[in-house]
Amino acid sequence: MNLKGKRAVARLVEAAIRARARAYCPYSRYPVGAAVLTESGRVFAGCNVENASYGLSICAERAAICRAISAGHGALRAIAVAGAAAKPCGACRQVMAEFSGKDTAVHLIDLNAKTGRRSVVRTTVFKLLPMAYDPVSSGLLPRNPHNLPNRR
Ligand code: THU
Repeated sequence: MNLKGKRAVARLVEAAIRARARAYCPYSRYPVGAAVLTESGRVFAGCNVENASYGLSICAERAAICRAISAGHGALRAIAVAGAAAKPCGACRQVMAEFSGKDTAVHLIDLNAKTGRRSVVRTTVFKLLPMAYDPVSSGLLPRNPHNLPNRR
């Protein structure tokens, strides 16, 4: 990764960590922050937003993705998730896949409350979701959807 790429990832990681501080999680007390870097170079962040009707809770990853899509930035270059051993749930992996290409990176930031240290593991959306349900191969989307020029 070149310096520009490294700076973009550092910015993304910081945005995810900052968003985590805004999590609304009075039920689980498990705050998560996420941020997405779009192909257009923008960063959008989100946090988990829980609800008294537990099943209505929204994960940080989907909150961040919805912000990007709502702003008109539909192709994801990289995603960061910050929490205590945070890993995206299955539903979030499928939503990530919808807007990702084969190289879309996922940075999993493990924030250790005891030591105050953080570690970052890098993977990709499609490593997290092998044999993903794919709207293109199932004929639901054209081969080159307009918003995803470099799809897998
Ligand atoms: N959660 C996320 O926001 N992202 C993840 O990657 C895993 C789980 C949230 C959902 C719920 O508000 C809380 O964490 C506990 O499951």
